[in-house]
Amino acid sequence: MSRISLAVPVRRSNVSVEMAIASRKSRRAFRKEALGMTDLALLVWAARRVPSAGAIYPLELYLVIGAVEGIKPGVYHVLDDSSMELHSEGDLRTELAIACLEQMFIADAALSIVITAEYERTTRRYGERGIRYVYMEAGHVSQNIYLECEALGLATVAIGAFRDAEVANVLDLPKTHRPIYLMPVGVRD
Ligand SMILES: Cc1cc2nc3c(=O)[nH]c(=O)nc-3n(C[C@H](O)[C@H](O)[C@H](O)COP(=O)(O)O)c2cc1C
Repeated sequence: MSRISLAVPVRRSNVSVEMAIASRKSRRAFRKEALGMTDLALLVWAARRVPSAGAIYPLELYLVIGAVEGIKPGVYHVLDDSSMELHSEGDLRTELAIACLEQMFIADAALSIVITAEYERTTRRYGERGIRYVYMEAGHVSQNIYLECEALGLATVAIGAFRDAEVANVLDLPKTHRPIYLMPVGVRD
């Protein structure tokens, strides 16, 4: 699989962190418009710039992309702060929305960021306690995505209600990558 670069030349918006916190809210109305590559690159970067217990980084991010300029619809696996690779082809937004207890607004979002975890990375070192660390880290990722969406004028909402096995099946996730949280992102309606 080939690596797709998401390099971002300038990481600066005119929105202060206080403004982003003040305006943040869950937004579930998405316009059926494509996102630009710069938006995608900034979202991935923000999602990955998070603390991790013991610097172990148990989270793996997948993108269910339906409408991003220059990117064919499909599931992508994020490799690092600025690159991803194609995991499987095809627009799976409707199947994903159905797996999320029929929250169909998810199908209107340009993409969804699916936060998965390989718990064993963290529990190997911290035992049972590692499980709570993984959830805390997913929260950090989610909040960064919320705030980046505010900075970019986009819409997002945290999704915790879904059928785990069905989401894993839709994305064809490796068995060790378990979905724990989802963030659909799109142009605000
Ligand atoms: C752990 C968690 C799970 C959530 N799951 C869903 C969900 O499945 N669907 C949804 O529409 N909103 C979901 N939300 C968003 C909440 O409904 C929302 O944050 C809450 O109503 C407060 O509104 P605000 O985010 O605009 O401040 C979830 C939020 C959290 C923190």
